[in-house]
Amino acid sequence: MSDPYFQKLFAERIGGENYGKGTAIYKFEKIKRAKRKALADYPDRQLIDFGIGENDEMAPESVRKVMAEEINKPENRGYADNGVAEFKKAAADYMKRMFGVELDAATEVNHCIGSKTALAMLPACFINPGDICLMTVPGYPVAGTHAAYYGGTVYKLPLLAENDFFPDLDGIPAEVKEKAKLLVINYPNSPTGKVATKEFYEKVVKFAKDNNLVVVQDAAHTVLTFEGEPLSFLSVPGAKDVGVEVHSLSKGFDMIGWRIGWVCGNPLLVQAFSDVKDNCDSGQFIAIQKAAAAALASEAIPKQTNAKYERRLKKLVDMLNRCGFQCKMPGGTYFLYTKSPSGVEGGPSFANAEEASQYLITEKSICTVPWDDAGAFLRFSVTYVAADEAAEDALMEETEKRLKQISLKFD
Ligand SMILES: Cc1ncc(COP(=O)(O)O)c(C=O)c1O
Repeated sequence: MSDPYFQKLFAERIGGENYGKGTAIYKFEKIKRAKRKALADYPDRQLIDFGIGENDEMAPESVRKVMAEEINKPENRGYADNGVAEFKKAAADYMKRMFGVELDAATEVNHCIGSKTALAMLPACFINPGDICLMTVPGYPVAGTHAAYYGGTVYKLPLLAENDFFPDLDGIPAEVKEKAKLLVINYPNSPTGKVATKEFYEKVVKFAKDNNLVVVQDAAHTVLTFEGEPLSFLSVPGAKDVGVEVHSLSKGFDMIGWRIGWVCGNPLLVQAFSDVKDNCDSGQFIAIQKAAAAALASEAIPKQTNAKYERRLKKLVDMLNRCGFQCKMPGGTYFLYTKSPSGVEGGPSFANAEEASQYLITEKSICTVPWDDAGAFLRFSVTYVAADEAAEDALMEETEKRLKQISLKFD
């Protein structure tokens, strides 16, 4: 079949005239295919899915109730543009209650249609061709993808176990720092589960001031903090002079599909974000903003989500340690990031985490997500579907039984 006339029109940023012709299969597609194969090969064996990266429960009933009421109000029908005051105030109140951070709701908070969209838009505020965006890896790549769309370059800061999963800011070459405009960090970190410390954030503020760059801290997982109290970047002196923090109701409030979050911090940076946003979307449905405001006002919801995923992670850590893994409780997120096995006694060796992950899914119907960006690690998510604690325990038992049928090596 000949190419359509527009084949030559695709922009270089998505592959140029070769767009759609690539044969590379990406990680998540490989996992999907392996899952399908495991189900076809072993139809009677339950697929144990630690690969899912999204909450397993609906938004709380109280939030759905507010939504049901708001959806019928005519005043909520129209374009929301950069958001309604109720949501901004609820976000500012939440920042004060959770982290002791004072924000002016009118000028220092702006909603977004999920934090993904905010991370996609923020590079438009800063990145010109040739500029550098500093980003931690492994991680959520969206800001980097968009920085590259604008002609920028991503300079990767590996999160290594030997550096306690913090980026080595001191090791960044001077010529990179000179061109760097953005530093994107994410704590609690996905996928490593590391939580930030006050000292680290203070270092980031100093680094930003010394090198004239803007900080974007992705706080999508912040409710899921198990080590110490949840910490906001903005609670550190000087942070509001250098950056913004991006929050989300997806993970901590079981509102993944509702698409609501906010950007907060320095008012001029928030304004720049809202100007770009204003040219991309017309705001989230006002009923959703009002339901989200009700969710943010609840002290119980984040506590419940946190307690559930902490409980599940503890069970997972104990079980995996009994099977030869050497893992410890993550500081935050619903992910456990643990060293990948190097092979199986009397069986295959694994060159990387991807091979280990493929083995576990094809041989044992246990789905994980491999990360090979900074060492070989497997990510286990505790967002599996289990109706109650007994179901969680049964799932752990079955996983343990299957893992003990093989003897994993970790040298
Ligand atoms: C680290 C991180 N940041 C941001 C997001 C985006 O979340 P949302 O767009 O649902 O707010 C995710 C979602 O997986 C994430 O893991």
